[in-house]
Amino acid sequence: MATNGSNGATAPSINGTAYPVVEHSYDVVVVGAGGAGLRAVVGCSQAGLRTACVTKVFPTRSHTVAAQGGVAASLGNMGEDDWRWHMYDTVKGSDWLGDQDAIEYMVRNAPAAVYELEHWGVPFSRTEEGKIYQRPFGGMTTHFGKGIAQRTCAAADRTGHAMLHTMYGAALKHRAEFFVEYFALDLIMDGGACRGVIALKLDDGTLHAFRAHKTVLATGGYGRAYFSATSAHTCTGDGNAMVLRAGLPLQDMEFVQFHPTGIYGSGCLITEGSRGEGGYLVNASGERFMERYAPSAKDLASRDVVSRSMTIEIREGRGVGKNKDHIYLHLDHLDPAVLAERLPGISESAKIFAGVDVTREPIPVIPTVHYNMGGIPTNYHGEVLTKIDGNPDHVVPGLFAIGEAACVSVHGANRLGSNSLIDLVVFGRAAGARCAETTERGARHAALPKDAYEPALARLDRLRHASGSTPTAQLRLEMQKVMQSNCAVFRTGEVLAEGKTLIHQVWQAADDIRVSDRSLIWNSDLIETLEFDNLIAQATVTMEAAANRTESRGAHAREDHPDRDDANWMKHTLLWADPVKRTVTIDYRPVHTYTLSTDVEYIEPKKRVY
Ligand code: FUM
Repeated sequence: MATNGSNGATAPSINGTAYPVVEHSYDVVVVGAGGAGLRAVVGCSQAGLRTACVTKVFPTRSHTVAAQGGVAASLGNMGEDDWRWHMYDTVKGSDWLGDQDAIEYMVRNAPAAVYELEHWGVPFSRTEEGKIYQRPFGGMTTHFGKGIAQRTCAAADRTGHAMLHTMYGAALKHRAEFFVEYFALDLIMDGGACRGVIALKLDDGTLHAFRAHKTVLATGGYGRAYFSATSAHTCTGDGNAMVLRAGLPLQDMEFVQFHPTGIYGSGCLITEGSRGEGGYLVNASGERFMERYAPSAKDLASRDVVSRSMTIEIREGRGVGKNKDHIYLHLDHLDPAVLAERLPGISESAKIFAGVDVTREPIPVIPTVHYNMGGIPTNYHGEVLTKIDGNPDHVVPGLFAIGEAACVSVHGANRLGSNSLIDLVVFGRAAGARCAETTERGARHAALPKDAYEPALARLDRLRHASGSTPTAQLRLEMQKVMQSNCAVFRTGEVLAEGKTLIHQVWQAADDIRVSDRSLIWNSDLIETLEFDNLIAQATVTMEAAANRTESRGAHAREDHPDRDDANWMKHTLLWADPVKRTVTIDYRPVHTYTLSTDVEYIEPKKRVY
């Protein structure tokens, strides 16, 4: 067998239909071409590994493009800074659920990762002296919580856009091969190891098996399980769902981040950088209410704190608008020149999606689903972990996960703004380095079991021919509404118990799903159904995890269990889902209460005060 490129075909038959599969062989296949995926692609191909990147959208349309405010690194360009302060903030922001070895790895490597991006050509905004411009962001402090840090490196309010385009350019300089508009269906598993991935080419309906010694999932989050999200419609957590179908667990899925400032109505993101530049929130009486909830950090408290405060204001009748159901964000006191230079993107979004001129009027905003702290458990090399025979750190051979798809866990129960972009590049690079260290270049692929592709093809065939009576769009809407109302900013045992019943009903109702178009060529009905099938499994484990965790920590706010309970709950949740029986199994992994080096001590849990 050849070691690269397309090298053969096989045609398993499913229910009498032949599904020819084109086979390709690589050293590494990266699934997803957002910030994490592209950084891994660069690392692997630079190291001489034959690398394929399989992506369902054109790389520069990946959701990283929508990241606005910036990328955190303690460069100290705008005042003093130290990676130890960044580490402290991240641990505190995570509400002590983050793994401190991984957090140390991320913050120590952050400055080098940002300078690398600068050298690749990211057009960062600049200070007078020509250094990278850095703005304040929520929860980012100096001197272990005493001062406000300016740590978030920004390219105006289009930082993700600038990074993604630059990284795609960097990836093209190397010899990686891109398979664009290929929808990944399932992992190829063999005896507990991952041997590649099967994908459907969207424009011609052909099926492709990418055999690889290492498969890197960089498939993003699953924000679209909710009705209102800042996430693109493509954020359906396809990698997470493939992991569940492979019999592997997801971790900490109860922790869903609401960004305080989604535009009321459309859910479009208004960057936290707008508060970093001096914007503030007010209620119906014009009060800057964050002063009451977080007297020190105020509008720059961490996101979970600000989202909860806004929700309380609305619930207690102090919301703005006809229905008193949102909050105002004021930027109109800022110098229009600053708005034009530092916040041009959100000024335009506010005009288009809220009809607001930010130089004159406040923007109507509401907490909106933004990020999944949970995902595929990994170590800080990006290697996927599962729990076997009591070992919570069993490495799944051949499988990596990075970016929002992964739960390293650096964000724990709540991510700080601008720690996502740095997570992408630091762990994308780490995964590339680990692949380079542990993969023999051009090594032959061992033969696969005869039926290795069948689970993926059988699922495709089942959904393609689904002839029930409920359209996918109806089930998707039901799922999104249940998640939005029963697994929201505030949760109670009663609401979550109802949520479990309702979400299982939707999962069950998927037996009656209807796909009208049977073709395999540009069949959006089928692709949306495959995506819904991915989302509903993740929605269900999210609801189950939220009902199971009887404490409040980070983004998981239980009104019936208002306190953090370290004695019983300072542990990661692991969730397995059986897609046939539609059952969920829960277990736990310990939080890493140690650091990576002797340069810094473990940060003991304490109450979070902002
Ligand atoms: O508010 C923002 O610009 C979002 C940043 C982030 O989620 O890291």
